[in-house]
Order: sequence, then structure tokens, then C-alpha cells
Amino acid sequence: MSTWFITGISRGFGRTMTEELLRRGHTVIGTTRNGKGPFEHNNLRVFRMDVNDPSEVTAIMQAAVQAAGRIDVVVNNAGYGLVGAVEEVSDAEVDHVMATNFGGTHRVIKAALPFLRAQGSGHIVNFSSVGGFAGSAGFGIYCASKFAVEGMSEALAIELKPLGINVTIVEPGYFRTEFLSRDSAVVAATHISAYADTAGLTRSNVSVVDGRQAGDPVKGVAVIIDAVESGKPPFRLPLGADSIARIEQKMAQVQADIAAWRDRTTATAFDD
Ligand SMILES: NC(=O)c1ccc[n+]([C@@H]2O[C@H](COP(=O)([O-])OP(=O)(O)OC[C@H]3O[C@@H](n4cnc5c(N)ncnc54)[C@H](OP(=O)(O)O)[C@@H]3O)[C@@H](O)[C@H]2O)c1
Repeated sequence: MSTWFITGISRGFGRTMTEELLRRGHTVIGTTRNGKGPFEHNNLRVFRMDVNDPSEVTAIMQAAVQAAGRIDVVVNNAGYGLVGAVEEVSDAEVDHVMATNFGGTHRVIKAALPFLRAQGSGHIVNFSSVGGFAGSAGFGIYCASKFAVEGMSEALAIELKPLGINVTIVEPGYFRTEFLSRDSAVVAATHISAYADTAGLTRSNVSVVDGRQAGDPVKGVAVIIDAVESGKPPFRLPLGADSIARIEQKMAQVQADIAAWRDRTTATAFDD
């Protein structure tokens, strides 16, 4: 049995993953922004933490290791969606979503690594998104925050492999959590009519899709936990048929772009 540290267990994926881990006999150290657990359990310990607060993150990670003795898996789950065309999103809206989705993930990793390195083992699971692999209208800045998570994670996986620590990024498509609800998703305050048919459509779709997403979080978290427990965890774990379809579409698009200009772009070295 292992000990999992998970950010944002109040609801959504974090809560569902906590339930499944406890059911399987693991120990969970979870964080919520109000310090209250979603429920009580002998193998669950809850700490108050906002991933945006650097001092809290370091102190809580220390307290968590002290409480549990060790941490085997760190799950960076806390995050939220920002809806708006790139031009519509304000500097403050960009800063906050980047600080939470990317900065928070980086901060938690930095706080955890001294302990994982000392153990010589561990697994870091970072929630990205299908939007961390392929951009879509109306989610540009959210996608940027998840692309940042992916770039960092790819480098991190190379750096940590010799130290015996695994890294996995999870790329969910649409799952029926509170992600698209008014309590989670932030809609940019500015609306520009020129984007009515692109980002505007995404904006109006959010409330239509909310509560009707195909992805079942219970099945989703079971796949994530199975992958970690498999002993041969993947680096990239797309989650949901919609995620796989979009990723395959993007890979084909990248290959087509490369093929169309390969002769010219490979002939750019100095002649000598
Ligand atoms: N569901 C999807 O369709 C989907 C798709 C792709 C990726 N994802 C990713 O999956 C992860 C979990 O989202 P979800 O679907 O479970 O959404 P959710 O139901 O809205 O839950 C989000 C969780 O993140 C926490 N959180 C947000 N900002 C935080 C902060 N600054 N500090 C600490 N905790 C914070 C929330 O805590 P509070 O209760 O305090 O707000 C909540 O527990 C996110 O990283 C999201 O980007 C979800």
C-alpha cells in the first residue's frame, strides 16, 4: 500500500481519486483550499493549501511527509479552466490561471522533490488536458497553461529517470466533474463580437456541455491509478475517446505540415 499526496480533493477528479485510492487500501494526504475534507476516513489526512501560495506549499509538504512518514505518489490535480479568445483575456486573468495550473504544479513538485530524491523513488502525476496537447478556440490561455505543464513534465521525466522517480501526465478529454460549472470555470470578462463564431461558440457551449460530458470520472481515475500501480507507467496518459481522437488528429496535422515543407525547412543549415 502506498501514500498519495493529491492537491484539490474537495470535488471532481481529486475527490473521486481519493475515494478510489482509499477503497483500494492506500493512504491519501489531500489538500483543499478551506482545509475541510470531502468526507472522513481513517486513511485520509487533509491539509489546507492554496497552490498559489508558495509558503503554504512548502510547509504543507513538510507536514505531510512528517504525518505519513513518506510520500510515494504526488498528484498535481488542482486547476481550473479559463474561457475566452486570446484577445479577450486580460493580463490578470492570464496571470492567475498560469499561476494556478502551471505555477502551482511547479511549486508542489519543487516542495516534494527533496523528499522523493532522498527516498530514491516516487511518482509525479501531473494533470494536463487534451488542451495541453492541442489548442482549441476559446481555451487558448488555459491550453497555454497546460502546454506549460507538458513541456516542464517532459524535461522533468528525463531529469528524474536516473533518480528512480517516474513522471506521468494525464490528458483528460471532457469528464463530468465540476470543471465546466460556474463554480470552477472562469469566463473572461471581455467579449469581442469578432470571435462570436469561434471562442464565442465555445463560451455558449460550456453551459450546454456541463453535466453532459461523456467521461465518467470514476472510470477515469481507475485508469490513472491502474497505470501508476502497473509498474510500467506511461509518460503520457490520454483519457477518454475524445482526447485520443483530438491527439491523433493533431499528430496527423503536424506530420502533414512537416511533409509539405520538409525539403525547404531541412535545407537551412550553413553551406559550409
Ligand atoms: N473535467 C474535465 O473535463 C477536465 C478535462 C481536462 C483536464 N482537467 C483537469 O483536471 C483537473 C481537476 O479538475 P476537475 O475536472 O476535477 O474540476 P473541478 O471539479 O472543478 O475540481 C477542481 C479542483 O481544483 C481545486 N482548485 C482550483 N484552484 C485551486 C487552487 N488555487 N489551489 C488549490 N486547489 C484549487 C478546486 O478546489 P475548490 O473546491 O477549493 O475550488 C477543486 O478541488 C484540473 O487540473 C483540470 O484542468 C479536467
